[in-house]
Amino acid sequence: MVGGARAVARCEALGRAPFSDMEGGLYRAWLSPAYRAAREQLSAWMVEAGMTPRTDAAANLIGRYPGTQDLPPLIIASHLDSVRDGGFYDGPLGIMLGVECVAALSTSGRHMPFPIEIIAFGDEEGSRFPAAMLTSKAVAGVLEDVPDMADAGGVTLAQALAEYGLSPDGLANARHPGALAYLEAHIEQGPVLEAEGLALGVVTGIAAQLRYGMVVRGLAGHAGTSSMPLRRDALAGAAEMVLAVEAIAQADESDLVATVGRIEALPGAANVIAGEVRFTLDVRAGDADRRNRAAERILGAMVDIADARGLDFEFERVHDLPASPCDGRLMDLLESALVENGHPARRLVSGAGHDAMVMAQLCPTAMLFIRCRDGISHNPAEHVEPADAEAALAVMLGFIEKMGATYA
Ligand code: GLV
Ligand code: MN
Ligand code: MN
Repeated sequence: MVGGARAVARCEALGRAPFSDMEGGLYRAWLSPAYRAAREQLSAWMVEAGMTPRTDAAANLIGRYPGTQDLPPLIIASHLDSVRDGGFYDGPLGIMLGVECVAALSTSGRHMPFPIEIIAFGDEEGSRFPAAMLTSKAVAGVLEDVPDMADAGGVTLAQALAEYGLSPDGLANARHPGALAYLEAHIEQGPVLEAEGLALGVVTGIAAQLRYGMVVRGLAGHAGTSSMPLRRDALAGAAEMVLAVEAIAQADESDLVATVGRIEALPGAANVIAGEVRFTLDVRAGDADRRNRAAERILGAMVDIADARGLDFEFERVHDLPASPCDGRLMDLLESALVENGHPARRLVSGAGHDAMVMAQLCPTAMLFIRCRDGISHNPAEHVEPADAEAALAVMLGFIEKMGATYA
């Protein structure tokens, strides 16, 4: 099997037990048993490819392939965690393609002037704890406060890290001493490349993200005996808030998007009026001011809805990342590797978040997008053609050669 196809096959292999925490689908949560198993498998693949793996203070797995000069490394990375019931390729494909880049070099006994480090980040999705990208923030040296937090099962971050002999206070020790550049290959997670008949594109930048956790409190009561006018139904109020999110985002004709992706009604019984509802809000736009203005409008609408219904309403900002432009010089290098491999030059923006947007605070970044079927992602139907992964690998190797040439 050639490298791109092997990268795809490895992502598929990681989609099942013991590499998934759920039956009949893929959910790989940061620091979970499935996550541990996937790291162990990846570590073996790194060794086989000629790398020396190590674990940093944020439980990231880093495989290093030496260079011939005393230079900082080129980092090639993506994330090993997944969303609940996600696809096989969102994250792991970028890691597996990085491993294949090194395998191709080591098979031919070649080393670049700079070392290459392949990093598997842990919590890009934020699908276990209510914060995301702590692991790349730690590596980029921009981790500030680590919130006290627990997963849905009540396991705290401190407990989860303790299983790796690590602690929340120590996460910042994963700070990287510095890198020449950061390259991330990722499925597009959108329909643009497929619609244009293109396998690959160069990313120009990543949209700004905001995430909140909301709590609406009313009064739990008997569903049969509480008359409608006297109710303080937290779920009906939250439902009106969700529709306000959709209406405000739809009324904005820019690239603004806003999503309530998770909601929980308590106590959660057919014959009890919901006394408390917790939900998430995710707001993104290419421009941070537009994103912030929309978030303010949404929060204002939620406060009004809560007041009108006599509900208590609290919210907390759990994630705030500015838009992150990719580096102009690296984009040019990646684009020339693309064109030399017979692909049209195509540049596009990323609406999805990536560890690259955090790593841009450590070093210049570049991203290569790979076509995925019907633009579907965060869904088990996510699909990548092995031939497209093969094409991506050739372009990544071309990019590495071009970077190497600048140090010759
Ligand atoms: C990650 O996939 C994100 O964009 O939320
Ligand atoms: Mn994702
Ligand atoms: Mn991803």
